[in-house]
Amino acid sequence: MTDLKGRSLLTLMDFSSEEILYLLDEAARFKAMKKSGITHRLCEGKNIALIFEKTSTRTRCAFEVAAADLGMHSTFLDPASSQLGKKESIADTARVLGRMYDGIEYRGFGQDRVEELARFAGVPVWNGLTDDFHPTQALADLMTIREHLGRLEGVKLAYLGDTDGNTSNSLMVACAKLGMSFTACAPEKYFPGRELADKCRAIAAQTGAEIRFESDPLCGAKGADVIYTDVWVALGEPDELWKERIEDLLPYQVNARVMEAAGPQALFMHCLPSFHDLGTSIGRDIYERFGIDAMEVTDEVFESPASVVFDEAENRMHTIKAIMAATLR
Ligand code: CP
Repeated sequence: MTDLKGRSLLTLMDFSSEEILYLLDEAARFKAMKKSGITHRLCEGKNIALIFEKTSTRTRCAFEVAAADLGMHSTFLDPASSQLGKKESIADTARVLGRMYDGIEYRGFGQDRVEELARFAGVPVWNGLTDDFHPTQALADLMTIREHLGRLEGVKLAYLGDTDGNTSNSLMVACAKLGMSFTACAPEKYFPGRELADKCRAIAAQTGAEIRFESDPLCGAKGADVIYTDVWVALGEPDELWKERIEDLLPYQVNARVMEAAGPQALFMHCLPSFHDLGTSIGRDIYERFGIDAMEVTDEVFESPASVVFDEAENRMHTIKAIMAATLR
């Protein structure tokens, strides 16, 4: 019997393969109940705090809707409306919130911040994205892959672009734990950090997973079941990076050639938001400055039948609901 009560989710590294699969099963159960209109309010009377030091659409909405479905009240705190970091330390904030709330979500900068929050809060803390990891995103991605391919073990995932970011880090850990193949496909300077890659390779030796680094985009994509990418300048990184990132990463754009190299079975995945057209102010600015109408993925691929990006977005809510229910009940 898997028991996660009282646990924090700071990185998937802290969770066993069995515990990750349990969360995915629970998320599937919650999704089925939601689709059937079955209400449950399993955490009735509990309260959670949502700390967002960076902007969000999916993660915030997923936590708020999941909390409401579970019968909980949520309080949203952003830097402008709280003392966090400016007038009050993380340790003090954690001890205050831990006296009032049953669980705390944190989105922000260094991984050390969410870890400090968890150390002092005395209640479960969930990482809603740090510079290093995005574990709730990876859980939603695993759920989506399993829904579409019917399995996880042996699935080949190729991640193109900046493969040293929070989402790619969490996916590499997830793939290592679940016996999947993870290919980081990027210029060498964008490969994942050595320390994390070594840890993942050690886990992979036990699970039958494979962790590969590849600089040729078509070789990296060849035969992949999942082609994954993310924006080239992450939340919190400065706008000055666009020029260098576009020059370095344009050869790793997910386009029709990349999907063809993968094969007709391949899914396209992206954690969103995405710059696939001129529908955003940043997209239009990049077009005016660099003359490209899409960045990490072309609109053709984004809108193709292979694209399951909105399933991923929906599954953020079901997986986050599973995490909260499992750690609070
Ligand atoms: N994927 C993701 O974390 O989306 P938001 O930034 O909108 O929360």
